[in-house]
This record gives sequence, structure tokens and C-alpha cells, in this order.
Amino acid sequence: MAFATRHFVRAASSAAATAAAKKLIIKHVTVIGGGLMGAGIAQVAATSGHAVVLVDQSEEILKKSTKGIEESLKRVTKKKFADKPEAGAEFVEKTLKNITTSTDAGAVVHSTDLVIEAIVENLEVKNELFKRLDKFAPERTIFASNTSSLPITQMANSTTRQDRFGGLHFFNPVPMMKLVEVIKTPMTSQKTFESLMDFSKALGKSPVSCKDTPGFVVNRLLVPYLMEAVRLFERGDASKEDIDVAMKLGAGYPMGPFELLDYVGLDTTKYIIDGWHALEPNNPLFAPSPLLNKLVQEKKLGKKTGEGFYKYK
Ligand code: NAI
Repeated sequence: MAFATRHFVRAASSAAATAAAKKLIIKHVTVIGGGLMGAGIAQVAATSGHAVVLVDQSEEILKKSTKGIEESLKRVTKKKFADKPEAGAEFVEKTLKNITTSTDAGAVVHSTDLVIEAIVENLEVKNELFKRLDKFAPERTIFASNTSSLPITQMANSTTRQDRFGGLHFFNPVPMMKLVEVIKTPMTSQKTFESLMDFSKALGKSPVSCKDTPGFVVNRLLVPYLMEAVRLFERGDASKEDIDVAMKLGAGYPMGPFELLDYVGLDTTKYIIDGWHALEPNNPLFAPSPLLNKLVQEKKLGKKTGEGFYKYK
């Protein structure tokens, strides 16, 4: 019996070792889209020692992205290296050296392990990009999307590497937020999934896994909650100020739903709920809100435009 157990343990650990050996260890990352999310992802990947290529549509945008990354790194190191400013400056310099930029994704994916897409939230545009890159990237390369609301499976189907395709959903601001949702489609291989989990951990994040379902975990719970808050206010059941106070003091949330809606951008929430409503028109959790639609039409999009549910001027 003892022999059988030992034999089983040895066999199991050697099987685990073989599986681990097959996993792709991600060292070189190509991030497409140098906006809010892409710049943040590039920053954390470079900070953890990965070689990063950041891609966007123009040199001008890329200059802005790298400047933003440098400023963010300086802020982080000011705290981390408070009593060693020279070590901090060295760290910033070393991290920035891990990032190069390009305006031609096709030309830079030839030796990358992972492509993370963080471009505009439009399925056709994303599919077009992945289809093109599929021709240039080596066979081993894993493709991942940072989409908040679009089906990963449909993006995977625009390529020939469905088994090497998944979702990596980061949260804003990327350097601060510990969570990454790692999304597995029915075609994502276990090896790909494990590589994406390991990569997320290497960035110092805490990954959770979820199937390719609308909103994954966080937005699937958060967006209907925000919409319910709007509906409660719309019906005149409570004021937005009282709803915000109630959720902060009663549920321990750091922001009330209307403060959060304004922070995220009303257009973003409207876009997500409209997409889900189109997928499931009879689901009351996904019903649109006339008030939200009106505010978006009036360009009252939240903090970024100076007014949403609240005024910021
Ligand atoms: P953003 O608008 O700040 O940045 C998008 C960037 O992609 C822009 O710099 C744009 O020039 C570039 N771009 C567009 N098409 C491109 C192409 N074909 N090739 C190369 N670059 C291209 O957008 P953001 O907020 O960074 O969002 C990016 C993605 O991340 C979206 O899919 C969004 O749903 C998702 N996301 C956004 C979050 C947020 O809080 N903003 C949170 C989590 C995910």
C-alpha cells in the first residue's frame, strides 16, 4: 500500500512537472492600445521584468502613453523608495528600458509570447486586429483581450489559434488594482489558461477565473447594481445623495453608485447595458434606463465632462 501510494505520488508529481514544462512562460509581451488600460498594463508588465512592446496608432499617442507611464512610475517609487531616491530613479529608468513602442503591430509580434489587446471596445475592430496579427505571430503566441463586455469566443473565432486565446480583464487604475479576471472560452486550452494565470501572478496580481459570460464576475454583478440604483432614483424612491450615503455607510462600499457611475463614465455603463440588452432583451437586469440615456445624449458623461449625476466644475 505504502509503495502504491508513493508510486502514485511520484507519478502524479511527474505528470504535473510535464504539464508545467509544457506551459508557456511569458517573457515578452505586446500590448496593443496605449490608452488608459494599455498603458497601465504595459507599466505593470515592465515593472515585473517583462520585455514590453506598446503599440498604438500614432507616435504622438505613444509619446503621451510613455510620458504617463513615467509619471505613474515616479509616483509609485516616491512612496516605495521614500528614503532611497537614487534607487527609485534607477528603478524608473530600468523599468522604462523594458518598454519599446511601435505603430505597426504586425511588425513587432514575430517573437512575442503574449499579445494583450486594449483598443477601442468594438468587436469588429478587435476581430480585424486579431485576424491580421494571427498571420504574423508565431504559433506559440497567446492572444488575450482586455474587453469589458464583448464575447472573447467571437474574437478567438477570428483567428486560427482558438486554443491559445483567452481574456485578461484588468481593472482601472491597473497599477493599483490587484484583480485580473482570466477568461477561459470553451476552446481555451488548459496550458493557455495556466500560462495566463501565471502571467497575472507574475505581475503581482490576484487572478480569478471565469467563463466567457457577459460581464465576467465583477461587471456582471456591478453593472446591474448600478442600473438598479439609477432605477430607484428614477422612480423617485430616494435621492441620489441618499442612495450614495446608504451604500457607503450601510454596505461599506467606498463610493456610492452615482459617484461610481460618474467616475467610470456614463457612456461606458450605457454601452455595456445596451450590448447586454441586445443579447438578452427579456432580462430585466439588463433593461436600459431613460434617465441614463438622456444624460449621455446631453453629453453629461460624468467626471470626464465635468457633469454626470453630479457637477464637478
Ligand atoms: P482608451 O480609449 O483609453 O484607449 C484605447 C487606445 O487604443 C487608444 O489610444 C487608441 O488610439 C488605441 N487604438 C484604437 N484602435 C487601435 C488599433 N487598431 N491599433 C492600435 N491601437 C488602437 O480605452 P481604454 O479605456 O484603455 O479601454 C481599452 C479596452 O479596455 C476596451 O476594450 C475597454 O472595454 C477595456 N477596459 C476598460 C476599462 C476602463 O476602466 N477604461 C476597464 C477594463 C477594461
